[in-house]
Amino acid sequence: MSKILAAVAWPYANGPRHIGHVSGFGVPSDVFSRYQRMAGHDVLMVSGTDEHGTAIQVQADKEGLTPQQTADKYHRIIAEDLRHLGLSYDLYTRTTTGNHTVVVQELFRALHANGYVVPKTQLGAISPSTGRTLADRYIEGTCPICGYDGARGDQCDNCGNQLDPIDLINARSRLNGEVPKFIQTEHFFLDLPALSGSLKTWLGTRHGWRPNVMNFSLQLLKDLKPRPITRDLDWGIPIPLPGWSDNPMKSIYVWFDAVIGYLSASIEWAKRSGDPEAWRQWWQNPDARSYYFMGKDNITFHSVIWPGILLGANGQGDHGGTPSGLGLLDLPTEIVSSEYLTMSGSKFSTSRSKVIYVGDFLREFGPDALRYFIAVAGPENQDTDFTWDEFVRRTNSELANEWGNLVNRSLSMAHKNNGCVPTPSTLTQADQDVLAISRTGFDIVGDHLGKAHFRQGVTEAMRVVSAANKYLSDSEPWKLKDDPARRDTVLHTVLQVVSDANTMLTPFLPHSAQRVYEALGGAGVWAAQPQMVQVSEEGHGDYPILTGDYAHEAATWASRPLPAGVPLNKPQPLFAKLDEALGTTGPQWAPVI
Ligand code: MF3
Ligand code: ZN
Repeated sequence: MSKILAAVAWPYANGPRHIGHVSGFGVPSDVFSRYQRMAGHDVLMVSGTDEHGTAIQVQADKEGLTPQQTADKYHRIIAEDLRHLGLSYDLYTRTTTGNHTVVVQELFRALHANGYVVPKTQLGAISPSTGRTLADRYIEGTCPICGYDGARGDQCDNCGNQLDPIDLINARSRLNGEVPKFIQTEHFFLDLPALSGSLKTWLGTRHGWRPNVMNFSLQLLKDLKPRPITRDLDWGIPIPLPGWSDNPMKSIYVWFDAVIGYLSASIEWAKRSGDPEAWRQWWQNPDARSYYFMGKDNITFHSVIWPGILLGANGQGDHGGTPSGLGLLDLPTEIVSSEYLTMSGSKFSTSRSKVIYVGDFLREFGPDALRYFIAVAGPENQDTDFTWDEFVRRTNSELANEWGNLVNRSLSMAHKNNGCVPTPSTLTQADQDVLAISRTGFDIVGDHLGKAHFRQGVTEAMRVVSAANKYLSDSEPWKLKDDPARRDTVLHTVLQVVSDANTMLTPFLPHSAQRVYEALGGAGVWAAQPQMVQVSEEGHGDYPILTGDYAHEAATWASRPLPAGVPLNKPQPLFAKLDEALGTTGPQWAPVI
């Protein structure tokens, strides 16, 4: 049993999330965490809403709200969607807590004291007419990378790249259209060149990463430049240095603060659990492992910036230093990144109205159909197009026909004939064969899931389902009226395989797995679900978090022998079939045009 940290990327609080987002960080991290818990490990799964930075400011301006009101509004909406999707966070919090500020400032100060955060002058924009600083978000121009005319000073919403205002072509103020003047202004930089030796050494010790992530990271390490980690922005964590902390126009860059959220959320979780030091078992423990889940636009921040912050704050960069007040912190074990879920070939994008919101999707189709689709047909290793046609096909033929019907047929027969789990007698070769397939499935599927190979994992689990379907058709228990002993043996065998397949599918389909478990006579919680609870922090208002009691769920990664005689209820259909027409039209809230 090991300690496993599942560190899940923090969604921005600038709007509801779409299914592209949860295919990147959400479903993969949850399938992984649920599997690891079932396999007996002690998982700490943390994340929260990313509430600072320009993106939130811009949205606040649009809605006529303050940034904090905007963050409050979307934090709640996003947390509710993630809860409904069944993501089993131990803590889903937010970045506008006092605890987060304290931890971020502690690491900033340690990096500064160790000489890995250095002041540098940079060109910053001012408004020629007022002489005042023009925050990055108020500058607009043509993206130097994709040519989109409407890119902001900090990032391009079209291609998703992070930008510097000085790089924009035809830069202009969004406030009054004037051309900004660039003057020298002081900012703090993360001195990546001074961390590059230790970063390279660390990356050299990493194995088993997805090739896309490793190759991209190696590429980044070839050319490290100091990165600005403060911004001309009045919405963010104050810079914790004398002469800076009360300058409202400068704050810590949102990405610097957000990645530290993995640590601050672990600390918050520990405080809430009643043992404030408990986080250390995941962060200061040579046997602990940490897995970070995200979409590919986040790789830089997790495979270079975050390890760089940790090395520098630990005093383990190229010129040494002393550890921060928190003590030595462990670097990531593995960065698990997905590619993009696209639609008609282009990236899901809120700004371009090609968008399928998680909330809408869940209201109409429920969580497990989306989770299954993302696992089996999501962008695990390459950009993948979402089509309603494919969603309908997968749901109907795989979830409803293959799996749902197997559960339904086997349970109905046993219910009708026996009213309980039947008693088997001597097993034939065919019985033993199908049981063997399902028994070995645990190792095969488990091996894939332990390596974050979700598509292969779900495919192998569905192979067990197919084997059971074939066994049932071949054994024809419905023709065995005159041989009840044989019929009961077949029904017991198939129910055992259904139970095993249900266990293997639990990380993917936790909601329907609970129902199948109950239909097979199981009692209590099989797969635990997250809860939203309202908490408070001194000096701050109340806010909702997600948390859950996963330690007491019954699901474990092993065959659970079905005891004969357990009463069975008449089964309810597991998955409703979707109307084929949906494949061509899409739902009315996201019509195919
Ligand atoms: N908010 C970022 C995004 O949506 C992700 C932040 S991940 C963390 O792309 F590392 F900063 F936590
Ligand atoms: Zn662009």
